[in-house]
Amino acid sequence: MSKMDVMLVVGARPQFIKSAPVIKEILSKHREIDLSIIHSGQHYDQQMSEIFFRELKIPAPLVNLQAGSGSHATQTAMMMKGLEGLMLKTKPHMVMVPGDTNTTLAASLAAVKLAIPVAHIEAGMRSGDMTMPEEINRKLADHCSTLLFAPTQTAVCNLKKEGLGKATRLTGDTMVDVLHTVVPFVQLKQDTMLERLELLPQDYVLVTLHRPSNVDNLNRLREILTALRKVAKRLQVIFPVHPRTRARLAKLGAFSSPKNGRITFMSPQGYIEILILLKNASCLLTDSGGMQKESFLLHVPCITLRSTTEWPETLIGKANQLLFKPEMIPKAILEIAFNEKLKQTITSLRNPFGDGHASGKIARILKETL
Ligand code: UD1
Repeated sequence: MSKMDVMLVVGARPQFIKSAPVIKEILSKHREIDLSIIHSGQHYDQQMSEIFFRELKIPAPLVNLQAGSGSHATQTAMMMKGLEGLMLKTKPHMVMVPGDTNTTLAASLAAVKLAIPVAHIEAGMRSGDMTMPEEINRKLADHCSTLLFAPTQTAVCNLKKEGLGKATRLTGDTMVDVLHTVVPFVQLKQDTMLERLELLPQDYVLVTLHRPSNVDNLNRLREILTALRKVAKRLQVIFPVHPRTRARLAKLGAFSSPKNGRITFMSPQGYIEILILLKNASCLLTDSGGMQKESFLLHVPCITLRSTTEWPETLIGKANQLLFKPEMIPKAILEIAFNEKLKQTITSLRNPFGDGHASGKIARILKETL
């Protein structure tokens, strides 16, 4: 039997995480699929890319297109050009793309225009907010795809509403799969890491912020920083800073201010490290999609600094709460950080993101389809 060529295109931090278990599954159990991993180069810093390949044991990409940063149009165009050339040369039977980044959009558009079938991992997420680049990317990617791997029942309903029901398969979320494989390493390494950072479990709030809507407007970012300084008077703040956010915070002179008190800024963390920080935090303040889910799965209460979420499942039992006004951050954080009743409720919630076997289902469906 001749092999089926599948090109998996990744490029940004969350995509490495979501793809890792699918890659492992295909390479270990599906010899009939010839998988080539292509890196768009969207994320290029060691801490934003390489560390995830190493920690999650992802084989090195066949090609790195080194598209790098730029405006949305420039970045997407650079990737499309490189990907088109590669697709024309290697003629894959299918192109697979995870998530909702500019890499997702570039790969699905380049493929569909060459009449190559597209499979989308994490299809059907909707925040309803078309000002978010990710909402545009995920909608367009879904409509370019012939196979839609939906992580939740909500995603299935969203896709049906848009007339995409026939291409949709409910698989569960590959982030549950990867979380399961990494938890033993989290257990193994957590004491050493917390000790090194002089942190006690349940004694700090973890903060991650990188959405343009929060960090690109310096006035809003200044308000957020002021709120974090208030929180730090009561509870230590641990803040791994995304490069986009670092550049904006530097403009505000945030890193050298004596007002920071107990705020610890640090570099972006690897996957095991961020999960250690999250699992042991008293709560999370974030605007990331993935972190909302991970906090839900690790039973850590979360405040999402946005007015919408593409993961409405996480709002059950107030496990995750949407908050838009920065001045409300201190009250909201202090309300959940020490709320034992809330923590008990969260621990008993049903997990709507699947049983940790999403990658197996994806690989099997892929094989059958090909
Ligand atoms: C991208 C995704 C977002 C995802 C996030 C995870 C899009 C539209 N957004 O946002 O959905 O949640 O990745 O991190 O695709 N930079 C570096 N080093 C890097 C990468 C970026 O310094 O390795 C800096 C550059 O100044 C760049 C900025 O970060 O301009 C933003 O990077 P970009 O790839 O445009 O989007 P993210 O904000 O990372």
